Order: sequence, then C-alpha cells, then structure tokens
Amino acid sequence: MSDLSPIDKAKFVAAKQAAEYVEDGMGVGLGTGSTAAWLVKCLGEKVAEGLKIRGVPTSSRTAELAREVGIDVISLDEAKWLDVTIDGADEFDGNLNLIKGGGGALLQEKIVATASDQMIVIADASKQVETLGAFPLPIEVIPFGWQTTKTLVEETLVGLDVLGRSTSLRMNGEAPYYTDEGNHILDLHLNRIGNARQLSLVLNQIPGVVENGLFIDICDVVVIGHGDGRVELR
Ligand code: 5RP
Repeated sequence: MSDLSPIDKAKFVAAKQAAEYVEDGMGVGLGTGSTAAWLVKCLGEKVAEGLKIRGVPTSSRTAELAREVGIDVISLDEAKWLDVTIDGADEFDGNLNLIKGGGGALLQEKIVATASDQMIVIADASKQVETLGAFPLPIEVIPFGWQTTKTLVEETLVGLDVLGRSTSLRMNGEAPYYTDEGNHILDLHLNRIGNARQLSLVLNQIPGVVENGLFIDICDVVVIGHGDGRVELR
C-alpha cells in the first residue's frame, strides 16, 4: 500500500479502521464510491481469513465488487435489518450530517443506512466542512416530467437559506445519467445550506423527487483518514 497517493492512503486507512467494527455474524450495509470500495476489499480479506458476514450492497457496482472479493451478498429484504452500514460521503459537518450521492447511489444508500443499527462514515479529511453545500447536492428524480420537477425545485429554493440556486441534470456523456433505480439525478449548486433539515423536508415534498442526498441524523460515527496514515474518529 506504500505506492498509494495521499488521498487514496487516507481513504484506505479510514476503511481499514472501520472494517474492525465488523464482527462475525453481522449483517453489513456496503456503501458505494471509491472509499467504500476500499472497505469492501478490506472486508473481503477478512472473509478470506474466516469472518462470516452477510453484505447488503447499495449499488450494482458494489454488489459486483463484493461478490468478487467473496462476500456473501444478500438483498435488504432478505436481511430485513442490519447491524451496521459503512459508507463514504461527499461532505460531513460537525453534527455528522452528510451530503451523499456524488456516485449516484443516494437512494439505496439512504434506505440501507436507515435500516441499520449504526451508520459509520469513512472519509478523507477533505470531506469535513463547517457548513454543508459546497459540494452540489444530488437529488434523485423520476424521469417522467423531470424538467417540470427541475423548475419546481428551483422555485422551491427561492426563500430558503441557500446561497446558489442553479440546478443541472447529471449526464453520462451525451445522455442523462440513470441510477440503479432507473431515475435521473439533479445536482443542486447551493454553495451553502443554512438549514439542511428544512431543505431535506421541503425537497422530498416535491412530486417527482424520490429522495435527496442530505443524510440528517443518520450517521453515528465518522472515521477520518489522513494521507500520513493517521485516523481520527468524530
Ligand atoms: C455515492 C456516495 C459516495 O459515498 C460519495 O460520493 C463519496 O465517494 P468517494 O468515496 O468516491 O469520495 O455517496 O453515491
């Protein structure tokens, strides 16, 4: 692991530390993204050494990786409830509220994290912010009428405590991006979110919005990795 860049080292050490929380027999929610991919690989090594877990992936990408490394993959409905979910984040603040969905998996991520006794976030130190919002907030929207939904979202943002109000449809090359659930993602360029709880509630009331990437009161612990190998807990 000595050839890793500082940012990858930070992600790796956070993931490795978080993997220590996982005990024999646990049901584990497996996050999505580059940091969560390290976690899945670390758990795969432990499984090869005899750890017995059942993993519920939060995306098709994670499911594929988890199977590759030998983790027993089951659905959330088979698991019903999980001991812990370990996932990355795009931003976290001092109250452990998060922006997630940079990787487009926010819907399954939120469902799985909510169905867990504990959510542990793994992140490099650059993800820590004073106030959420510099990272564009992803929201998952139904393809039907998405342009109308976009307009409704922009109108809803007027009067809320945010600094920017532009929205963009996430693209995959020339075509709109599709999530695993067959939906689109709108990225909201808000710059600063003054009241994340209020914004989350208001966004989810708009018809056409399936879910937003604000995780409020869901995360219990953040494991922060640093490029020099240090790890801190929040
Ligand atoms: C995917 C996510 C990811 O956890 C988030 O984007 C962080 O990704 P990375 O670990 O690659 O920085 O929310 O939907």
